Amino acid sequence: MKRTRPKRVGDSYTPPYPSYSVRFADGVNSLVCAFFGVQSKKPLASEAKVASAGMWELCAKEDGPISREHAVHTDDQGFENRLIIAYWDDPEAYGRWFKKHRDALIGAGRKLTDHGRWIEAVIPNASGFETLYSSNTFPEGVARVATGGFSGEIQEHGYWGSMRDRLPVGQTEALESRGGPFVPGNSGIVRVEPHENLAIIRSGQDWSLCEEAERASYFGDVEPQLKAGMDFLTSDGPSIGCYANRYMTSSDSEGRPLEQTFGLSFWRSLEDMEKWAESHPTHVAIFMAAMKFLQANAGAKLRLSHEVAVVSRDRQYYEYNNCHATTGMLGSARTSAST
Ligand code: HEM
Repeated sequence: MKRTRPKRVGDSYTPPYPSYSVRFADGVNSLVCAFFGVQSKKPLASEAKVASAGMWELCAKEDGPISREHAVHTDDQGFENRLIIAYWDDPEAYGRWFKKHRDALIGAGRKLTDHGRWIEAVIPNASGFETLYSSNTFPEGVARVATGGFSGEIQEHGYWGSMRDRLPVGQTEALESRGGPFVPGNSGIVRVEPHENLAIIRSGQDWSLCEEAERASYFGDVEPQLKAGMDFLTSDGPSIGCYANRYMTSSDSEGRPLEQTFGLSFWRSLEDMEKWAESHPTHVAIFMAAMKFLQANAGAKLRLSHEVAVVSRDRQYYEYNNCHATTGMLGSARTSAST
């Protein structure tokens, strides 16, 4: 593909530190990233736990995901949430699987009294998907389905705008977004209707390999900035185009935390996400803290990862059953419908 939109840096640019992307198998044109959640007031209701375990079992059935993970999160309404993150590299297998199991996942035909369930799923074209990893030895998130493995060191990172430069579709398209999410109708299981070119990011942090001094430095200097940025996006995100944000902790099947967190957020456009990263005081503070941390911790073992998708309208699916009003895309969809 001939680039018609110039990169932000010249060909002689050299990044300040190494980073990598992942490669998918030949013939993989689309990916599926699906999030299957349950929620209830703390502590998590026993039915919610059963529902989450059931979702996990469904993932093991024919045509299920290649990779699945657990995560937990207490949201701004004080609800405990348990999530399964599932990846496919074959949208047709996902389509067959989802058709068979959608009712069981969302709890269709059942009256949910003590918990809510939701499905958020996107099927980006590979050309609308990009990844960035600080380490090339430990696949996490979507890297687990990337059978082509890690790339060599890439040039397109270390400057603002590099996310767009890494997106194949960013070479030729502006990726402007159109419209806003809305909820058609108002009862029962609620579907949110999305719009063109919504952007999604999963940005991960893993400190499981860090020695004590590096952990102290991460939790003393970097994590508080990350938490502040995540709190801002969760409470005020909609004012800058972030429809929904969750600061999640990876967990085992019982909800016990692992040494790994990630921010998961849904944005009106790639441009809104870029603006926050490049110029909002909260991400600038995260970035500055990270640079200081890397200078102070030679050979740091903290691993950072980042997956971004820009997705067309018909390749997104958001569905909520008995969830509170600000769950995921629901909050922004209801607000934009009423304005
Ligand atoms: C880019 C640090 C969390 C959104 C970057 C970059 C760094 C960084 C160093 C530049 C990467 C490169 O190009 O080499 C961090 C650290 C984090 C963190 C240390 C947590 C401890 C997040 C979170 C989000 C986010 C949670 C979103 C929810 C972005 C975006 C870019 C970026 C969108 C790309 C900007 C562009 O290229 O235009 N971050 N970040 N970051 N970060 Fe973060």
